[in-house]
Amino acid sequence: MSKFFCYAQDNESLLKSGSRAVNAIRVGGDKSVTHRALILASMARGVSSIVNPSLARDCMATIAAFEKLGVVFEFSSGMKKLKVRSPGFEKYAKYQGVIDCCNSGTSARLLMGLLAGLAGRVHFLTGDRSLSSRPMARVAEPLKKMGAEILLFDGDRLPAAVAGRALSGIECVNDRLSAQVKTSLLIAGIMASGTVTVVESIRTRDHFERIAPLFGVNIISRMTRRGNEVSVKGGAFPVPAKVTIPDDISSASFYLVLDALCSTVFGKNQRVRLGGVLVNETRDGLLRCLSECGYDICHSRKLRLGGEDAADLGVAGRPAGVCEISPLKIDSRERVVSMIDEIALLALVLAHARGKSVISHLSELRVKESDRLSLVAGELNKIGARIRVRGDSLVIEGVKRLRGGCADSHGDHRLAMMLVIAGLLCEEDFELDGCECVSTSNPGFFEVLDSMGFRFSIQ
Ligand code: S3P
Repeated sequence: MSKFFCYAQDNESLLKSGSRAVNAIRVGGDKSVTHRALILASMARGVSSIVNPSLARDCMATIAAFEKLGVVFEFSSGMKKLKVRSPGFEKYAKYQGVIDCCNSGTSARLLMGLLAGLAGRVHFLTGDRSLSSRPMARVAEPLKKMGAEILLFDGDRLPAAVAGRALSGIECVNDRLSAQVKTSLLIAGIMASGTVTVVESIRTRDHFERIAPLFGVNIISRMTRRGNEVSVKGGAFPVPAKVTIPDDISSASFYLVLDALCSTVFGKNQRVRLGGVLVNETRDGLLRCLSECGYDICHSRKLRLGGEDAADLGVAGRPAGVCEISPLKIDSRERVVSMIDEIALLALVLAHARGKSVISHLSELRVKESDRLSLVAGELNKIGARIRVRGDSLVIEGVKRLRGGCADSHGDHRLAMMLVIAGLLCEEDFELDGCECVSTSNPGFFEVLDSMGFRFSIQ
């Protein structure tokens, strides 16, 4: 297990010694969009091309799964381009072994939808210890209603045996507001007879709906009095496509928050610019919170990539340097859904606010890669924050500056990266156990921090 160390003096003097020119940071393709592109390209018979794919370990788990089914992947241009050559989902190679989804909930849940529709085949899905403790019945139960046979360990966990069947359409309510559940059912719906409709009271991330038409799959989304209704009609199979993935907004958020907090803690920021980042209102809740806290978030050079909008993002420095953070009360499920992977980072920002903040509706955080709800509070408190868990809420009393000391990632990549950012801002030295897990979503994380001039060591 690797340890991250940083020494308070080093980073304070970096910021105080004047701003360095930091080139536009590229964080690499969005992980959620890449998973969807990989799946559609692997279903389509022929050759597809994915430009700027995410190189996250989670996406590599999806690639490895399809390799077992006979799909060939070829990276080129320094891993910036990926060619996908597939026999088409109806002609996958027979594979009786185990498909290991490693740490990736998106791989496990989305692949379950695909495997459920491969009639006459049985496949086995497994994952690492963290993934094997996460709930899977939320996907398996509606797939079973479509006709699949799925056996889960303990009724809700991996490993899973998935017996593909001829599926039929259903209407299903996405009551947990999980984009993975919605997407899994839509993938299964492509192979079903009839129509699959997913109804959600709040629109969850809609990347599949946006990218599927580029692969020739028509998805109908409409707002009704029940909320967002998304349908796919079975039988229109994906065809090969060439798509470009925008950069990952969740990975970009770590550097934006670091830069923003530098202006608050050190009175100066580096005005980093993150290039070509996905901007989608089902994902940008954190940006809106940063604006409400008092930061000036700049969007420039707007583009369209992979059916999505993208832009360069940055945090403007304030004329006086320091930004005092306004506390927030977040009591809307919709807002939480739009930043579900950024709640740990928001807690870090609000831990520096002047006053008390509350973020509610966080029960889903208990079933992420760790019990992120308890651990965000527990680990930040170890280094001087004042955060309480109250039911499914975080209650955060702002402090002027975090103290420093030791923290642990518990193998959760988003917790690890948030704690590293916290550590770079601490008043005293900081160390983090288990920092290698960052590559689950962001393999270039430490290189970018290094290019920004931050000093740290990893042992
Ligand atoms: C994801 C959906 C979210 C998110 C995860 C990726 C996706 O999970 O937390 O990191 O790609 O669909 P839920 O569907 O469990 O909310």
